[in-house]
Amino acid sequence: MENKQINFFTPKDFNSVLKPFKKGTVVKIDNLEVREKQNELSIGLYGWYAICPSREVKKNKIHYFSLFDEPLLLYRDEKNSIRCIKNICPHRGASFYGGSISNGVLTCPYHGAKFTSEGSCQNIDRITCSHIVDNNYDNYAKRIHLSQYKVLEIDGYVFIYFSDKAETNLNKINEETPIADYELANNGFRIADSVSEEVLVDFKCDWSRIIENHLDILHIFWVHGDTIPDKDVNKNILVSFNQKIKINKKYIESIYFYKNNPSKEFIRIKYIPPGRILIYKGDPKDSRYLQVLDHIPLGENKARVVVRHYRKFLKNKLLNNLILFKEIQKKIFYKIFDEDYMILKTQTYNHQLGLIKSDEIKLLGEDRIINYFWKWYKKSEERDNPWKHIKKSKELNVYDKIIFKYPPEIKKLELINNLNIIRKTFIRYAAPLILFLLIV
Ligand code: FES
Ligand SMILES: [Fe+2]
Repeated sequence: MENKQINFFTPKDFNSVLKPFKKGTVVKIDNLEVREKQNELSIGLYGWYAICPSREVKKNKIHYFSLFDEPLLLYRDEKNSIRCIKNICPHRGASFYGGSISNGVLTCPYHGAKFTSEGSCQNIDRITCSHIVDNNYDNYAKRIHLSQYKVLEIDGYVFIYFSDKAETNLNKINEETPIADYELANNGFRIADSVSEEVLVDFKCDWSRIIENHLDILHIFWVHGDTIPDKDVNKNILVSFNQKIKINKKYIESIYFYKNNPSKEFIRIKYIPPGRILIYKGDPKDSRYLQVLDHIPLGENKARVVVRHYRKFLKNKLLNNLILFKEIQKKIFYKIFDEDYMILKTQTYNHQLGLIKSDEIKLLGEDRIINYFWKWYKKSEERDNPWKHIKKSKELNVYDKIIFKYPPEIKKLELINNLNIIRKTFIRYAAPLILFLLIV
């Protein structure tokens, strides 16, 4: 058994690592000069969030979710474009839950107001009732509009631009960050050369804690050492790496090189705020796989993670089906998430109770990317104040139950997947064999 000392880039004094984050200082990190003020992330908590895969938003079906506890919904309008609407009917404030969508027209369940793709009401007479003395219907019609956020679809994902508030007129929304920054082709990975599988998991824990966990490379050897099918990710066989960090206005990137082969990348983690993390196996242009992790802050202590795994190997569809590769891959994802979840929910609990004091934890040099993330997050939270809609009650309410679609108990998802594996194995192998034996 090989047993070498794990050796990440470790500065003698961690304070020296914090210097680049102080105003106006220039510090050398791994031969890279970082000027804090010039390179600081310019994106805050308002921006583009990948909410779900495009295929999750089906015609004539409403997809409920929330962002920072603001209730929202997605649906396809008459032109098949996806709309993101604040889940409040502008007549009397009912939720659209229980309402319907037909050919892109959304109907409120309370008094039947119908909204067209432009978000304006089209049956005012019904909702104001003709017996009510209101001779100002036309003016009312001009005032009743759905509040919306901007939506775009790229790489098979639904992105919404979450900003200070939903607008009745989409033209009023000016995005500060271009959607192109999230496009995988612009991040060095050609999806056309690959195939993918994905899973969606909901967590009853803090959103930022999950991002922090995905930036924390050290844990993978220990927590997932027995699960990740990579010989270098192992509890017992320690391999040494050098870390290099890149920080600029659009993203932060942490690259790990093999110490015994300094030009060879082991893994590269790129965080594009607010919610996306890309994990490349090696240099993006030669990377055999890319993992895309989208973190969705549903609300306080509730988060969704969408993971899509693109790979350039084992692309043959027939072979994939025969060996149930997608299902086996999902099994690995669920196991990894379950391993993370145990750590995440208990760590979140400690933080919420204020049990962790800064002098009680000592960060390693490798953790400086996490430190950078926290500084950015705190600053962005203060600046953007996205938690305006936060619920006072800590109990799951009726809406939480609607939006928590992917059971937070990952065990349930694992069970569903395992049953699927048994069912498919039976159909593909056992049933034909039984049939063959019966015939013979
Ligand atoms: S509250 Fe929606 S139509 Fe009245
Ligand atoms: Fe993990």
